[in-house]
Amino acid sequence: DKPENIFPKDFLWGGALAACQAEGAYNQGGKTLTVPDCMEFLPERDRKDKKHIEITRETIENAKKDNDTVKYPKRRGINFYNTYKEDIALFAEMGFKVFRYSISWARVFPDGDNDVPNEEALKFYDNVIDECLNNNIEPLITISHFDMPVTLIDNYGGWYNYKLINLYVKYCEVLFKRYKGKVKYWITFNEINMSARKSVKTLGILNEGQENYKEMVYQGLHHQFVAAAKVTKLAHQIDSNNQVGSMVAFFTTYPYTCVPEDVLFTQKDNQMKNLFFLDVLNKGSYPYYAKTFFKNNNIELSISEEDLNVIKENTADFIGLSYYNSMIASSKPNLLELTPGNVESVYKNPHLEHNEWGWQIDPVGFRYTLNHIYDRYNVPLFVLENSSGFLDVLEDDNSIHDPYRIDFLNRHIEQMQLAIKDGVNLIGYTMWGPIDMISSGTSEMSKRYGFIYVDQDNFGNGSKKRYKKDSFYWYKDLIAKNGNIY
Ligand code: BG6
Repeated sequence: DKPENIFPKDFLWGGALAACQAEGAYNQGGKTLTVPDCMEFLPERDRKDKKHIEITRETIENAKKDNDTVKYPKRRGINFYNTYKEDIALFAEMGFKVFRYSISWARVFPDGDNDVPNEEALKFYDNVIDECLNNNIEPLITISHFDMPVTLIDNYGGWYNYKLINLYVKYCEVLFKRYKGKVKYWITFNEINMSARKSVKTLGILNEGQENYKEMVYQGLHHQFVAAAKVTKLAHQIDSNNQVGSMVAFFTTYPYTCVPEDVLFTQKDNQMKNLFFLDVLNKGSYPYYAKTFFKNNNIELSISEEDLNVIKENTADFIGLSYYNSMIASSKPNLLELTPGNVESVYKNPHLEHNEWGWQIDPVGFRYTLNHIYDRYNVPLFVLENSSGFLDVLEDDNSIHDPYRIDFLNRHIEQMQLAIKDGVNLIGYTMWGPIDMISSGTSEMSKRYGFIYVDQDNFGNGSKKRYKKDSFYWYKDLIAKNGNIY
């Protein structure tokens, strides 16, 4: 009774990386520091530690004085800056149809507000994009993936400043013109809903104890909304084939019980955690519950009519999402146990397993999520991240046996297939981290996602050679069968 294989013929199978976790070469080719370059690896930290690592003014100032790539692993990444050719060749060998990669703003505009872009940086991205095209891989570009340039924090105060909109538009214009006819799919901001939670990483707004900090975060977010809308318009003007996507990390949340209070609480929680961002970017206006949320939290935003019109007239063409784990909510949260999740800790669902880092595993929640989003927005969906971190072992014969990864992905892809069967219009799937790289949350190397093993430990030791894991052959086969997992 296996369901028939129903992935569309032109379904875009592939994988996704981010410049700030893979590229390395943090001070080469004119690049300046970004927030991820200032994130320390804490070797003593427990894997299941539920607190996220804060970035403060002090963190950034200390990092500026230091050239250490052991302490700051994202500065070395996996050296993709120099290995992109051989790495993309491995993606091509797996049969990738699409490769999602991000461009580093701090590489293209090292001071954030330079008059002209840095040609050396653009040459590097020309090479990456051409390498994809030469291998028949569609490049999908994230314009900003968690790598706020430090110069924009120092000189402008991050996205709290309205001027960031124009700087971002200028950056995008360079990319849209340069890659016209080469890149069709663009993502304006990686997981924009993280901004409300990880404001330094994504908005560059430092928490220095300001009384109105929350207001500053939502103001900064508003500026990102306006910027996203403006560049969506620009992308269409420059090339009518361009498709610009919004993106959220969808935090699917179930009520802990069927007590009506729990259900109501979960509904409200879902609004400001997930839907708010897509309502603005894909429906084109601020929803009623957001206005109430602002009022209840004494948040007064400065929003002009002109901003609202830009948002209204330039909604995103599709929705990109990442799906890692589900969570639960209760009106009586003190009764629940916490477990770590992507970015922040979540309440433990007693019915789910979890990985070494405590992230819960919920394939059925994936199908639920896809239906939930499509039902509300009715635009094509693109899964831009999905997977789980695992501890892998490189055997003496250089093999890596990772049945747990194959199992995880198989179960999620099965649910994705069922969602398509439900009628969801899904155009592609880029699993997160086809090659091991530095973890975004903990800056460790041992939290591995890849089909390709990178021989590098948490301290940067190792040959940095690439080895194919068992899952490499599994994914290759899966793509060749267009997703038929049976
Ligand atoms: C996503 C981010 O939220 O989670 C990625 O977009 C990140 O950048 C991924 O790597 C997994 O998180 P982590 O902390 O395990 O690397």
